[in-house]
Amino acid sequence: MCQRQTGTLVTLNLFQGPISLEMLKQVQHDIVIGVWLLGICCYLVFIVFSDFMRIFLIGFMGCGKSTMGRTLALSLNMTFIDLDTFLEEKYFRTIPQIFAEEGEENFRLKERKVLEEVASFDDVIVATGGGAPCFFDNVDLMNNSGLCFFLDVATTSLVSRLITAKTERPLIKGKSPEELQGFIEGMMEKRRPFYEKARYILKGTEIRAAQVIELIK
Ligand code: S3P
Repeated sequence: MCQRQTGTLVTLNLFQGPISLEMLKQVQHDIVIGVWLLGICCYLVFIVFSDFMRIFLIGFMGCGKSTMGRTLALSLNMTFIDLDTFLEEKYFRTIPQIFAEEGEENFRLKERKVLEEVASFDDVIVATGGGAPCFFDNVDLMNNSGLCFFLDVATTSLVSRLITAKTERPLIKGKSPEELQGFIEGMMEKRRPFYEKARYILKGTEIRAAQVIELIK
């Protein structure tokens, strides 16, 4: 017989007479509730004990986010994602192509979409494009889903690094060294308030991965 006490199945004695359909339904109901509760418990244990990490590296073009990201990923045994490369692979086009064919506005929408996607990945180091933190609430999204580091490299270093790598970057393509200097200074002034929302700010001409590792220990 199946006896119930305040919703709990107490005993099921098969030798005390035939089992009615009602009793079987009750047992079935209890099993469903039990499995459901077990599922919730497993999920909570998973949430409490899982120790996933996401690191976002932000900063102006040429500040060394990708180089730093690769070094960190190796040291911390995490997966490195370059957000621009991730976007290019998802949309089967290069960043200059997207800028040329759809304009910056559509590029920013795509950038937001891929950022949302990687913000749900576990144990990743994400190097974002220089403009990513400055559109929508992207920087808040990064701060809320991981540890965000701003690599604050001096403008003079950015200029010398970008002079040699300006062809693949639509925003600075074709600029002379003087134009580049003025462009970086003006753009940096507008972007700085967004970059400075990062949880950690690392300043210098050469920022080392060890500084990031020290901060997250
Ligand atoms: C941009 C920076 C680029 C790339 C795009 C726009 C920007 O990434 O996302 O060309 O607005 O600063 P890097 O910072 O990796 O060069």
